[in-house]
Amino acid sequence: MAVKESRAKKLVAGIKSLLKRTTKVGDAKAPKLALVEARKEGKKITPAMLEKSAKKHLWMHFTRHGSFANKEIPIMAKAEGHYVYDVHGKKYIDGLSGLFSVNAGHGRKRLADAASKQITELDFFPLWSYAHPPAIELAERLISYAPKNISRVFFTTGGGEAVESAWKIAKQYFKMTGKPTKHKVISRHVAYHGTSQGALSITGIPAMKKMFEPLVPSTFRIPNTNWYRAPSSFKTEEEFGIWAANRAEEMIIFEDPDTVAAIFVEPIQNSGGCFTAHPAYFKRLREICDKYDILLVADETITGYGRSGNMFACERYGIEPDMMVTAKGITSSYQPLGALLLTERLFEPFTTGTNILAHGYTFAAHPVACAVALENLDVFDEEDLVGNVARNSALFKKTLEKLYDLPIVGNIRGDGYFFAIELVKDKKTKETFTAPEHEKLLRGYLAGKLLEEGLYCRADDRGDSVIQLAPPLTIGPKEFNEIEQILRKVLTPAMSKF
Ligand SMILES: Cc1ncc(COP(=O)(O)O)c(C=O)c1O
Repeated sequence: MAVKESRAKKLVAGIKSLLKRTTKVGDAKAPKLALVEARKEGKKITPAMLEKSAKKHLWMHFTRHGSFANKEIPIMAKAEGHYVYDVHGKKYIDGLSGLFSVNAGHGRKRLADAASKQITELDFFPLWSYAHPPAIELAERLISYAPKNISRVFFTTGGGEAVESAWKIAKQYFKMTGKPTKHKVISRHVAYHGTSQGALSITGIPAMKKMFEPLVPSTFRIPNTNWYRAPSSFKTEEEFGIWAANRAEEMIIFEDPDTVAAIFVEPIQNSGGCFTAHPAYFKRLREICDKYDILLVADETITGYGRSGNMFACERYGIEPDMMVTAKGITSSYQPLGALLLTERLFEPFTTGTNILAHGYTFAAHPVACAVALENLDVFDEEDLVGNVARNSALFKKTLEKLYDLPIVGNIRGDGYFFAIELVKDKKTKETFTAPEHEKLLRGYLAGKLLEEGLYCRADDRGDSVIQLAPPLTIGPKEFNEIEQILRKVLTPAMSKF
């Protein structure tokens, strides 16, 4: 009897659970999707509704969702010039140009008009065996700014895809030109090159890769050019740079030159905090690449389109790349677009017979993105945004250097409108923070406090503790002071947190 009863109970519980699980959209008793309903009924969507829905449905990138359990998600709703505003109307200076990318500043109507015009003309057409006017015109325009040996453009939708494409092109190029074993890539410690499995393999940040191993094999790391932390035996940055470049040759020999296809470097390495390099470094890398027939890929995802004070940082530092990865600032991020710029040598094997690069992306060179990029570059030219950076970069740095009077500020470095402030425990010894201290300082204090004081920038935790700045290229002395004042206010009490 007892057995029968317990079976019946189980059956009822099973049916109840099934009914619960099948109560879905359309069922009057199902919980309402508030934003869907509000849109349908033409009702106002409130910040509270957005917050609730974001917590329920949105998976944000590179985000510790756990940290928002008892905290509001910052929801940005509006942007104008070099300011962004959250849903509550709070104003922030955009010290990072979105993600190192809104180079021409926010809210430019002419870019919206260019998009609108293109949508009404040719909304979309792929670049797969067909071309369209905006892509053709943009390719030529990019070549007009690029180093003189660059003559070909392969479009993508962003930087990581361009990195991925560069590696695939390098592999196929060598297969088609009688060096089929050349396939490996050398890149630098702590460098970030994207998240797809090939680009992530090239990335030099172990913590970012760990959960996705095994990644695409055949990538190897060499030292970056962190001059602040270079051994004291190096007397000049030039000497250190040549030493660092020679590590590439060492790695090539270790791995066998017949197996190495390419070296990827950023002209100014972002991760770790704006590592610049002496021009001798890039000259030596070029010599090494020539000696062993290896392709030099300059990843200008961030440094491109004026960020360094030249249109491309390759020009600024005299780098002669075989390929240049570009993205972000190409459209000032009003549209997603990437462009891999290449020398004709790399395209040449693809010009004959049935040869083909079996690689591409549906939305690469989207006509609307290309039209916006062209208009964006018109803005660059008409307002001389690159010149603005070149003229004001030294003053920007000098303004930030006032912060050296704070005990926590160890090093301020970078170029153009791209600077990092490295925070240290002891200025004299350059002692850095332990992992728990670093966590407490960056995540527990700085990230939130900077926002609270009205500065959106990055408190970076991929190398040593740095604050990174990459504002729109439109800003000037007034905004440099504004940024310095907020940093001063936030950094002054920072040391007392330990
Ligand atoms: C140097 C570098 N390469 C590649 C990427 C990846 O670009 P995306 O996020 O557009 O794929 C980034 C992104 O910040 C980057 O900084």
